[in-house]
Amino acid sequence: MSPSSKLMVGNWKMNGSLAANASLVAQLLEGIGAVSCRSALCVPAPYLAQMQHLLTDSSVDLGAQDVSAHASGAYTGEASADMLRDFSVRYVIVGHSERRQYHAESDATVAAKTQRALAVGITPIVCVGESLAEREAGQTEAVVKRQLAAVIQTNGHCISEIVVAYEPVWAIGTGLTATPEQAQQVHAVLRSQLQAASAQATRISILYGGSMNAANAADLLAQPDVDGGLIGGASLKAADFLSMLKVASR
Ligand code: PGA
Repeated sequence: MSPSSKLMVGNWKMNGSLAANASLVAQLLEGIGAVSCRSALCVPAPYLAQMQHLLTDSSVDLGAQDVSAHASGAYTGEASADMLRDFSVRYVIVGHSERRQYHAESDATVAAKTQRALAVGITPIVCVGESLAEREAGQTEAVVKRQLAAVIQTNGHCISEIVVAYEPVWAIGTGLTATPEQAQQVHAVLRSQLQAASAQATRISILYGGSMNAANAADLLAQPDVDGGLIGGASLKAADFLSMLKVASR
């Protein structure tokens, strides 16, 4: 069983400016109307204050793209979960493959970041996904299960409060999308792993990410275990993101 309303999350990555953000949000809020899906924008940390202001009284929640694994102290350049909460952040992406790859984040680090977010009431969006080499070697299930197991082990029954995003690394920013069947297969594996860990896991949304766009969203979202999307490139275009929100509200 899946959560009833879909969750669509834009991941802006390292894109934007004060002027571009204001224009994009104005277009989104003008066009959004009465969508029934849940939505959020995960923005670069320097724009959290601006976006908190722009999204006030809107149906779009604010998200961040990373959080420190530590509570406070001598960690130059990092932002703590408490700091994110000061800006009404509702979601934070943890363990994105770009963080795992370029910042050497281990499964244990991702599990600790998840714990920090949960401790202050921010919903972590825990990303898992296999590389192309891992898929070709038949290791997809083993990789995503190992990544999720670390989060489950550290967070116990609290995992019922997380969101999971399946993002095959080979599909991110490449224009290659997992087929709906490939996505569903992995989502079903993740769903049963979560349900085995927590009786409350039925409320966990499992998002698909990796070149999701206005053209392929409907087929992906039609899968029984695809509860929404984590959208990079297409979330930077108001018309595309709006059309995906509408698809997710059907
Ligand atoms: P993409 O990115 O939609 O541009 O492939 C998704 C993500 O990395 O979250």
